[in-house]
Amino acid sequence: MTQERQKQGKSVFIRTYGCQMNVYDSERMAGLLKPLGYEAAAKPEDADLVILNTCHIREKAAEKVYSELGRLKKIKTAKQKNGGDMAIAVAGCVAQAEGAEITARAPQVDMVVGPQAYHRLPEMLARTARERGDILETDFAVEEKFDRLAEHKADGPTAFLTVQEGCDKFCTFCVVPYTRGPEVSRPTDAIAAEARSLVVQGVKEITLLGQNVNAWRARPPVGVVGDAWGLGELCRHLAKIDGLERIRFTTSHPRDMDNGLIAAFAEEEKLMPYLHLPVQSGSDKILKAMNRGHTAAAYIDQIAKIRAARPDIAISGDFIVGFPGETAEDFEATLAIVEEINYASAYSFKYSRRPGTPGAAMPKQVAEAEKDERLARLQALLEAQRSDFNKAQMGRILPVLLEKPGRHVGQLIGRSPYLQSVHVEAPLSMLGSIAPVRIVGQTPNALAGERVTKGEAAA
Ligand code: SAH
Ligand code: SF4
Ligand code: F3S
Repeated sequence: MTQERQKQGKSVFIRTYGCQMNVYDSERMAGLLKPLGYEAAAKPEDADLVILNTCHIREKAAEKVYSELGRLKKIKTAKQKNGGDMAIAVAGCVAQAEGAEITARAPQVDMVVGPQAYHRLPEMLARTARERGDILETDFAVEEKFDRLAEHKADGPTAFLTVQEGCDKFCTFCVVPYTRGPEVSRPTDAIAAEARSLVVQGVKEITLLGQNVNAWRARPPVGVVGDAWGLGELCRHLAKIDGLERIRFTTSHPRDMDNGLIAAFAEEEKLMPYLHLPVQSGSDKILKAMNRGHTAAAYIDQIAKIRAARPDIAISGDFIVGFPGETAEDFEATLAIVEEINYASAYSFKYSRRPGTPGAAMPKQVAEAEKDERLARLQALLEAQRSDFNKAQMGRILPVLLEKPGRHVGQLIGRSPYLQSVHVEAPLSMLGSIAPVRIVGQTPNALAGERVTKGEAAA
């Protein structure tokens, strides 16, 4: 009875910043809070608990959190005046990086929980109810975390599944090794069990996640003898799950792109022809200063091998302009590698000086105006390549996974094998199915398609 009463009317609002790993973590936090009676609130004003799942990757991302905390403070104060209350938790990478500084700077925050400690949220909530003052949990406890999470509830036909966390690479610009801790791989059987449960719930496409997802390594499933598996073997293993139609993974590091994984692209149909493989720069001098551990030529060779294995693969990347010491010539080398590779999509950023990283202390920081100019040139080139890639799909018939309703009635939004958004006229009853779609047009962010009959598709 008491438990029933406790369960009534509580709600949580989670705002997610940053990468897909944070999206995954937010879903798992919601799942963890549900048995405690927390339903999803539509906006912070309606919530008893607000969680900001934060990102520390660039200065702007981290600063957003403090402005959002300012807004939340007003809502909390207004609620308290009316005899109510609202708990505020900061989770994610800012929580890990700035810990106690957050509550010093923003006393309205009740809980600070790092990305490897959020399974402790229920205890933390119980403690905030008993004690005043802030509560901080920022241990790295990855295995314990996954063991203690509730079942992963699916939300539609696509799902993220974290298989690897953390980073040992220590690129000199990056905070991730500090916010997410060392590389840890989840066990094969735990991953397969989560995948099977998602598929039972209707999931058709799973994206395996990790900060360095292709650094995943673990023992084969219980009962299978042999050496440790890499990501290629994991993909093949998951591909055996009936009902699972598509597998993707992100983000990969060029240093961990082994032959087994490349071969999986050639042999495993369920592995989608799309690879996000960041290179950051095309200049060997800058790659070295970034501590990326490979040259531009090695990256180009690797892409050639991957394309030989899977000729239609869409390549995507990340780039940073204006890393300390980057000259006009270094930047030209970045444009040159982009020309050489020809990307289907890409993310590009101005270098952001992050406290505590080696790059922040390097001499020859590049002026902001210079970074702006380089970014604009790089983005124009990448955008032209993306548009060409999309145009090349015109008239083709692609299998599209119909993922969610579109903006107007009768329209669904789906994904092509190359991760392009495709808008199609189709009934709601087709949600979750993979349909043959002829590509007939393109907008800046999506392709337009028409459903084709089975007979036409086979022709
Ligand atoms: N593990 C992935 C990337 C994770 S961060 C990898 O190694 O490729 C995602 C992207 O953010 C990076 O690829 C990089 O392009 C960008 N990034 C990271 N730190 C940055 C910084 N200090 N300034 C600008 N961009 C940054
Ligand atoms: Fe950051 Fe480099 Fe690790 Fe990627 S590999 S998360 S860029 S340190
Ligand atoms: Fe940001 Fe942390 Fe992801 S810093 S990009 S949320 S790993």
